[in-house]
Amino acid sequence: MSQPASREQWSSRLGFTLAAVGSAVGLGNMWRFSYLTAENGGAAFVLLYVGFTLLIGLPVLLAELALGRGSGRSPIQALMHFGGPRWMPLGGLFVAAGFLILAYYSVIAGWTARYTVEAIFVGVPADPAAHFGEISSGAQAIGWHLLFMATVVVIVAGGVRAGIERVSLVLMPLLFALVCALAIYAATLDGASEGYRFYLEVDFDKLRSLDVLRQAAGQAFFSLSLGMGAMLTYASYLSRQEHLPNESVIVAFADFGVAFVAGLAVFPLIFALGLQTQVGESTVGALFITLPGAFAELGGAGRIVAFVFFAALLVGALTSAISLLEVVVSSAIDSFGWSRKVAAVVLGLAIALLGIPPAMDTDILGWMDTVAGNLFLVFGGLMLSLFVGWRMPDAMAQVTPGAEGVRWFGLWLWLLRIPVPLALAVVLWQGLVQLVAGS
Ligand code: PFF
Repeated sequence: MSQPASREQWSSRLGFTLAAVGSAVGLGNMWRFSYLTAENGGAAFVLLYVGFTLLIGLPVLLAELALGRGSGRSPIQALMHFGGPRWMPLGGLFVAAGFLILAYYSVIAGWTARYTVEAIFVGVPADPAAHFGEISSGAQAIGWHLLFMATVVVIVAGGVRAGIERVSLVLMPLLFALVCALAIYAATLDGASEGYRFYLEVDFDKLRSLDVLRQAAGQAFFSLSLGMGAMLTYASYLSRQEHLPNESVIVAFADFGVAFVAGLAVFPLIFALGLQTQVGESTVGALFITLPGAFAELGGAGRIVAFVFFAALLVGALTSAISLLEVVVSSAIDSFGWSRKVAAVVLGLAIALLGIPPAMDTDILGWMDTVAGNLFLVFGGLMLSLFVGWRMPDAMAQVTPGAEGVRWFGLWLWLLRIPVPLALAVVLWQGLVQLVAGS
């Protein structure tokens, strides 16, 4: 099956890898991962999250890559290409998820941008909770959100190579360096060991909680950018020589690696400075309150550490937001024949508007995050695994090129057919029950 002739391609393998890692590594790794780990009691959550990443995330990631590269099309067209028109609504759902997630994601990225700039020019706030209350919603939050969205639009309008790939090649190594530097710094703090204990010592009782399980699954999907066609879209610009299993393993490990190392920075910092009680009451704002609290207590160094932390978070947010917009933009290019620039500006503007409610009210933001992470992405992943496992004519023929020696594709397909959908169905059911119960 040939790819549409005019489709742009990544200029190098590394370009794709870093862009895909860039999509995966983002606010999910530092903000969402830390607050969920704190909320769900530490190490047990981390363990479940790793388990989900390996057993469910990896097979679904490979499925998205196979679907994207095999069709050379954006999500809606890719599903229709292999499955016929009945699968169009699923593609539509992916695009809707892109809208929903980017709208609130950009608001959080806006807070992050503000904190980064403030670390240089103003310093760390004396009363972080009051400061967060002031800036997290209202006109100023909207302003920073719009600024962030404008940046994302400019990069996506620049195209796959000149925009997305170029930015990822520069920013991703920078992010790795910043996160490692933070973890090393945190290790030097007195009292860091208590943070490590919370983060790394597993309380096995917690492993049995269905709720922790559900959150860990949602987090694995959110963090790997799965279940809404982002990886599919990036893979659609990939050549048939690339080894998809290797790419999926690299992306999954890099994504987990950054989340894990970020945790090695966040928890010692919080515990060393005695702020753990605040972590227990964790919400979407936790990181933006607790950490500046920690930075403030570090004295002069605190300002530099704050800058490094928020700059790394901002870089991650930017490269992930780019992939979210790319799903929507590439769909408009393929479905309506729009030019890339027009699609980026028009759709970016629509998403910016959708971001205004979460920028006015953090409860709306938290709700959007729960719905997106625990329902949309999990449902998307469930349907994707069923599609590739049962409906796609010859899934093997799409993963094999470039990876001829691999012997376990049979196992992969089996995982997609039975265990992955079953597990995701349970998680989705739990998510719905929780949503109805109003928690
Ligand atoms: N993976 C990103 C993160 O961890 O921040 C968020 C994300 C990006 C989710 C792209 C979904 C997506 F399609």
